[in-house]
Amino acid sequence: MNNCVMKLTGLNKSFTNAAGNNHVLKHIDFAVYSGDMVAILGQSGSGKSTLLSIMGLLDKADSGSYLLCNQDVSSFSAYQFSQLRNSHIGWVFQNFNLIADMTVVENLSVPLRFNKSVNRVDYEAMIDDVLQKVGLGDKKSFYPAELSGGQQQRVAIARALICHPDIILCDEPTGNLDSTNSNNVMELLSALHQEGKTVLIITHDPDVAAYCQKAYKIHDGVIAAVSPLEFKHAV
Ligand SMILES: Nc1ncnc2c1ncn2[C@@H]1O[C@H](COP(=O)(O)OP(=O)(O)O)[C@@H](O)[C@H]1O
Ligand SMILES: [Mg+2]
Repeated sequence: MNNCVMKLTGLNKSFTNAAGNNHVLKHIDFAVYSGDMVAILGQSGSGKSTLLSIMGLLDKADSGSYLLCNQDVSSFSAYQFSQLRNSHIGWVFQNFNLIADMTVVENLSVPLRFNKSVNRVDYEAMIDDVLQKVGLGDKKSFYPAELSGGQQQRVAIARALICHPDIILCDEPTGNLDSTNSNNVMELLSALHQEGKTVLIITHDPDVAAYCQKAYKIHDGVIAAVSPLEFKHAV
């Protein structure tokens, strides 16, 4: 059985700006296997978010191939992207990206409303389940601004989990958190990994990378594996 959940081959991405053409990802070959917990390191501007956005179907490469769960997504429509994203991928962002005028329950309902295979009568049990997982069962009617940064990120992780994705993609998930909350979020992501989720984490922080079993570094548009011994020196 092929347990490669994400396979990028010869992938390129450029942006054009006033200064000219910026070739951000250069012929990237990269594979992620089911159950991996992977850190992606690299300096600011090195292309980490661009890579994760392509892997998480928020953006498209210019050329090369991308197989997600053995499906070649290069010719998929925006609608197919959104359906695949909804069922396979949970996203966690540095700024939490919760909707400010919605309560915790309302925020967690949003992905469910886009998921055709979920019945409305099951919403409440599914929301209770993920909130219990992140330890926030008592915050259902709170608005994001009424929660600490660490709590907001845990709501965001609950939202990432709500449609039972196999893959969790995190773009600097601890970037706005103090060290205690950062450790709490990493313990939570490690627990999800233990349950069998595939977890990818972009980070600047070697302590965050140390939670991962594999690490890669992007430099000058090229990705390379980093051995665990080098994690501390990789950024
Ligand atoms: N939508 C965009 N339009 C133009 N340039 C972009 C865009 N997104 C990213 N870039 C450029 O691509 C490079 C890599 O950005 P990014 O992937 O966000 O880096 P990182 O996440 O490693 O800090 C940067 O030079 C950035 O300015
Ligand atoms: Mg980034």
